[in-house]
Amino acid sequence: MSSSLFNEIPAGIPDPILGVTEAFRADNHPSKVNLGVGIYQDTDGKVPVLEAIKRAAEIWATSEDNKSYLPIDGVPGYNLATQELIFGKGSPLIAEKRIATIQSVGGSGALKLAVDFIKKFFPNTTLVLSDPSWENHRVIFEAAGMKVGTYPYYDPKTNGLKTPEMLSSLRQLPSGTTVLLHACCHNPTGVDLPMESWEEIATICQERNLIPFIDCAYQGFGDGLEADAAPIRMFADKHLTFFVASSYAKSFSIYRERVGALSVVTGSAKETANVISQLKRIVRTIYSSPPSYGAQLVGIALSNPELRSLWETELAGMRERIQKMREVFSTRLRDLLPDRDFSFILKQKGMFSYSGLSADVIRELRERYHIYALESGRICVAAMNHKNMDYICDAIATIVGKR
Ligand code: LMR
Repeated sequence: MSSSLFNEIPAGIPDPILGVTEAFRADNHPSKVNLGVGIYQDTDGKVPVLEAIKRAAEIWATSEDNKSYLPIDGVPGYNLATQELIFGKGSPLIAEKRIATIQSVGGSGALKLAVDFIKKFFPNTTLVLSDPSWENHRVIFEAAGMKVGTYPYYDPKTNGLKTPEMLSSLRQLPSGTTVLLHACCHNPTGVDLPMESWEEIATICQERNLIPFIDCAYQGFGDGLEADAAPIRMFADKHLTFFVASSYAKSFSIYRERVGALSVVTGSAKETANVISQLKRIVRTIYSSPPSYGAQLVGIALSNPELRSLWETELAGMRERIQKMREVFSTRLRDLLPDRDFSFILKQKGMFSYSGLSADVIRELRERYHIYALESGRICVAAMNHKNMDYICDAIATIVGKR
């Protein structure tokens, strides 16, 4: 018998985020809690199917009349609805056809399309990420052949930003460097840039001829749909040309349907047409054309006024519940560990809190209490509820208190 083709293949390392979910699923402990992955759960610990999505699915079930391929750039109407959501309904860029938007397989798919495009047309660029950034950013970009560096961002000493260091590092980047920025709800820290820093970054990008690349995966989870898009709209107002990778996974609680988009802000309608045609080439060589279902539902929910308003209410409900959990989490920890300051948790935005807990504490939480979080100390506040909160806080206080 010939030997297997695969006997030299080593095991891959578990994914730092989804690997935690795999370990959580394999754990049978009744009190287990998954604070690892960024998924919103309701008060009962369930990932909700939004009413707006249920209603859109009813509409789609009676209106779908064929199963042919979609156009390579996606569901007609969906891309325009996405532009309006990100850039504002009245944005002159839309009227001037200065945005090239293409449906993508989730936000990660948008990152992949963008990096392939960047690699092809700006072959000498390197890409810099905030330190830290979403665990999967570096992996996606390096896998596409990109050289990846970092710029200072988070200061563990203050649980805030390293603003002067960040700005000075960005000012020293070689012309043509790609800079990945988080539009809102910075993943993993939850610490967002104030508008004045965004303004300075926009100026630096113009002066240094940098390629801005904005990841917008949490619109609506910070301060609201409009406020969360403000940095992107400001970049557009300043006539920058740039990339925006966006996702509806979280805002529509539609994770498994993989619904995202890549929008490229260009200088003219002609450039837009060329960019779209190149992005279509890239899609064709990876997965040919996108899946339909999730984008159809999102397209319907965004364009039907009744469903749109229902969705905005449901999204606000998720945002407010997370904020409430932040307050309870921070207060409870303050009561249990009065010598430590947890007020920074209240200033963070979105699903995550960079808790400042060490990797040792995170490991002990998992081993002794079956509470799963990321070794970086990132905790998903959106998975907390009134039933698991005391258990989580007591476990943290017991471990931290004895160190
Ligand atoms: C996260 O950061 O947990 C989410 O964006 C989910 C993922 O794919 O990593």
